[in-house]
Amino acid sequence: AHQWRGVIREYAERLPVTDSTEIITLGEGGTPLVRAKALSELTGSEVYLKVEGMNPTGSFKDRGMTMAMTAAVESGAKAVVCASTGNTSASAAAYATQAGITCAVLVPDGKISMGKLSQAIAHGAQLLQVRGNFDNCLEVARKLAEAYPVFLVNSVNPARIEGQKTASFEVVDYLGDAPDYHLLPVGNAGNITAYWKGYKEYSAPYTNVTGEELAPVATKTPHMWGFQAEGASPLVKGHPVTDPDTIATAIRIGNPASWDAAIAARDESGGLIEAVTDTEILDAHRWLSSREGVFVEPASAAGVAGLLKKHAAGEVPAGKTIVITVTGHGLKDPQWALRTADGSDVEPTKVDFDVVSVAAALGLEAAP
Ligand code: F0G
Repeated sequence: AHQWRGVIREYAERLPVTDSTEIITLGEGGTPLVRAKALSELTGSEVYLKVEGMNPTGSFKDRGMTMAMTAAVESGAKAVVCASTGNTSASAAAYATQAGITCAVLVPDGKISMGKLSQAIAHGAQLLQVRGNFDNCLEVARKLAEAYPVFLVNSVNPARIEGQKTASFEVVDYLGDAPDYHLLPVGNAGNITAYWKGYKEYSAPYTNVTGEELAPVATKTPHMWGFQAEGASPLVKGHPVTDPDTIATAIRIGNPASWDAAIAARDESGGLIEAVTDTEILDAHRWLSSREGVFVEPASAAGVAGLLKKHAAGEVPAGKTIVITVTGHGLKDPQWALRTADGSDVEPTKVDFDVVSVAAALGLEAAP
């Protein structure tokens, strides 16, 4: 039977690899593009969710990590390092294990979810909780990779962007053309950069590393709509934020590394980058789990929060094709599901093990 071979083998002709490259992969990519019934009904457009939580470590980071770890091995590196709000570290730890090399991760103390922390530990990474935020961690990771023999696998490494651009290819291959709009959360801004690169490459003749010219696959590119959490929205404000804050810890970032590329993606695509509040993010999180059947972590819902906000403002056209990337799995950070909209805890009902109590608790009446 056919099995998806991971993004490098599936898209080798559009990536910087050759036949002799040793590929480090866990079978990432090939994630479902799910039609969002309730969002489609609400907007009158065809809305799809690119469900990136279905990647091997539960987030989109695996697409870039297969390329970054392949590049690390190719360069002869014995150790990699990354700064992370949690998902990059989980991914780096898993792929480093597959590659048989050492992995060090720097995470902000107390501001990463238990699920992500446990992944990095399970895969044997050297995990350091840094007394500082993600931006501080990234600064140290970059300096460490400059002065010590460790290979940096953050998205400032171009290999990461190369791998992540394959998500655009999958969207176009599935839909038959690019969508009209593509919405996604923005934190360190690697992903919006990668998607835009992928869409541009797929809509124009492309000369690959072997000098072969490939024909365009898409006839157009989408408008890129990026959404940051309001308390961590430097790209919206136009200047770095020194003390970023949001419940969406994955995107709690005040000085995105791919700042210029994100602004270019916005402007070249005729798109926008706006902010959504934590309340809007949690409402979208709840919408996805309760109406679409898709469980994501809070940061992952920022794109959907953006769609709901723009729709409420009358700024989402009907009759279009809209893709929203939901970036990470709900099991990464499940505590948010156990809280109601008004902030109180959800208490599961307890019952005795007899059918009458269970039926009564479910509000069922015996069939006549
Ligand atoms: N969504 C999730 C679930 C993330 O983990 C991240 C970034 C983003 C969105 C934003 O993507 O940074 O490319 O703009 N997480 C990084 C990490 C920072 O360390 O895991 P971006």
